[in-house]
Amino acid sequence: MRLTRQDRLFVLTGAGISAESGLATFRGSGGLWNGYRVEQVATPEAWAADPALVWHFYSQRRRNASSAQPNAGHLALAQIEQQLGDRFYLCTQNVDELHERAGSQRIHHMHGNLFQSRCTQCNQPFPDTGLYETAETLPMCTNCNAPVRPHIVWFGEIPLDMDTIYDKLNEATVFLVVGTSGSVYPAAGLVNIANQQRTRTIYIGPEEPLNHEAFKEILLGTATQLLPTLVP
Ligand code: OAD
Repeated sequence: MRLTRQDRLFVLTGAGISAESGLATFRGSGGLWNGYRVEQVATPEAWAADPALVWHFYSQRRRNASSAQPNAGHLALAQIEQQLGDRFYLCTQNVDELHERAGSQRIHHMHGNLFQSRCTQCNQPFPDTGLYETAETLPMCTNCNAPVRPHIVWFGEIPLDMDTIYDKLNEATVFLVVGTSGSVYPAAGLVNIANQQRTRTIYIGPEEPLNHEAFKEILLGTATQLLPTLVP
């Protein structure tokens, strides 16, 4: 695959791009955490039933993500952005900050950010690296004393700022997807929109995603093997 400096590139990343930084993917780990399915701890229902369990899960993820380092795949995307400038847009389903730490700037976290929390009443996200691993230490809002939750989009919730995502996709000449199984919507459906507008669609990952038939090109390999070869 070749990129030119005239291309407008929309990149969608998933858990696979952080796999070589040592962060487990969802489906790769069997979708399990401490014997729970991810869907049992990443939903509004789980939060209503057991906020301590939910905070335990996200505290552990904060711990893992803060000790991980960006890999050559994250770095390559930051280098491509340096070349393309405003013709580059990165939308990630990941809640870690490895893209930013590699130097990416034009980035949107459609599923939220692990290092932000928000009050369930005031709803305003704020930076938070706290670890809340016991029921006694759950965070409360300093303004209104309502429970504070992770600033994460859970199953059944609407991803953040879909309007900008659709606008950016509309402008793109190339839609590049890296390391996502194509099983969670609306992210998995963006390739169909790209196809309708005749954007070139490319998938990179070690195996075909569930929605593989929608891609015009599939490059089998890992993010650190393939992304550095794309830097124009
Ligand atoms: P998955 O765990 O479903 O898929 C990870 C994908 O990464 C798989 O297709 C792997 O083949 C691929 N992969 C593994 N190692 C790789 C590597 N070294 N380089 C490139 N690709 C690799 O993760 P996602 O598709 O990101 O949502 O999951 C989507 C959403 O489901 C997540 O954002 C999360 C989850 O539940 C929420 O939390 C809302």
